[in-house]
Amino acid sequence: MMTPSHEHRFRHLGALLAEWQSVWQPLPFQHRRLPWASRYPAMAEALRGLSDYETARLQARPFATSPLSSWLPVDELASLASLPDLATQGPTLPDAWGTFVGGRKWRQIQAFAPLVTPDADLVEWCAGKGHLARGVGRWHGIGVEALEWQSELCRAGGELARRQEVAVQLHQQDVLAEEASRWLTPKTRVMALHACGDLHGRLLERAARRGTAVILAPCCYQRTEAEHYRPLSEQGRREMAEQGWRMHRDDLAMAVQETVTAPAGVRRQRQRANAWRLGFDALQRDVSGRDAYLPVPSLSYGRMPDDFAGFCRWAAERKRLALPARLDWAHYETEGFRRLGEVTRLELVRHLFRRPLEVWLALDRVRLMEEAGFRVRLGTFCERQLTPRNLVIEATPAR
Ligand SMILES: C[S@@+](CC[C@H](N)C(=O)[O-])C[C@H]1O[C@@H](n2cnc3c(N)ncnc32)[C@H](O)[C@@H]1O
Repeated sequence: MMTPSHEHRFRHLGALLAEWQSVWQPLPFQHRRLPWASRYPAMAEALRGLSDYETARLQARPFATSPLSSWLPVDELASLASLPDLATQGPTLPDAWGTFVGGRKWRQIQAFAPLVTPDADLVEWCAGKGHLARGVGRWHGIGVEALEWQSELCRAGGELARRQEVAVQLHQQDVLAEEASRWLTPKTRVMALHACGDLHGRLLERAARRGTAVILAPCCYQRTEAEHYRPLSEQGRREMAEQGWRMHRDDLAMAVQETVTAPAGVRRQRQRANAWRLGFDALQRDVSGRDAYLPVPSLSYGRMPDDFAGFCRWAAERKRLALPARLDWAHYETEGFRRLGEVTRLELVRHLFRRPLEVWLALDRVRLMEEAGFRVRLGTFCERQLTPRNLVIEATPAR
């Protein structure tokens, strides 16, 4: 079968996201009765009835024999969101060069680096300590410029480059500033591993205008100034208007919510914290008489009170809610855990649209570059166990 063009994929994914927005957009955490549940009661029931085992299986692999396929276009979403593997099978940076880098980050760099062709002046965008620049520079025996706005990271990165005798120059640079454009020329290739929202958006918009080659693994699409998503590509702006849908900045976060599985202990702590939040939500609705979700700020785990009552007192104080002297704490705590089970199951609908949304956002970036006449490849550069943000966009200007 022929691979669909980016233009085709983008249009069809956009149409499905638009059609099913009322199902994937609401957060089950915030709704005692989900808006879509009255329209699709059997779908909600089917999810509520899932065993823990089935729930975990669908969380890990949302498209594999899903009960949701009775209502939702599961197979179509799966095939539109499935992308080619662009990882090269050849040699890569040696393990020994990653001494100063976290193990997982180094393995991501090992997967990404072979995709960087050293045929131009290389610049790393949002470089942190410039680990990628250092690896690529050392591998090819060339100099690399790296841009990072935090002076401490520039200093530490410069020190590492000197130690390893690699010609990497870290420049303290706000990449959003207009003058950062001077780094983008037709002779440059910019590499960016996990550059967030506007930081990579601005890169692509300027590279498109200036004819600069880019290799980018995007992340954190929600880190953007605009409250509502404005597609970068002409196709995206036109079709979103035609399809009649909008996305708030908060909706974009869904695309990157999938995290690599945390250790069991951390997972249990998180679950307890979520159950307590839901328990407090049930309690505050009863106490205030307002059947509406009340956002409570997050609390780092070290500061989490020891018991449910302590957590509720803390949350009530933050929200200026007076609690009655006597409360059936056990009842609300149990309700919190019951709701957690329900919310986890209803969330499976969102899991199904998560990767399609991420791919749609990546395709919007791809189409921006194609519209500017670039040749673009979109695919994955590593397994998602290494990082769920494993999409890579390679844009080469027509010369
Ligand atoms: C998600 S980290 C990625 C770092 C590195 N590429 C990696 O993969 O580990 C994003 C980096 O962008 C930097 N950054 C954030 N805003 C920036 C800006 N306006 N200009 C330049 N760098 C920025 C941050 O300090 C951080 O080091």
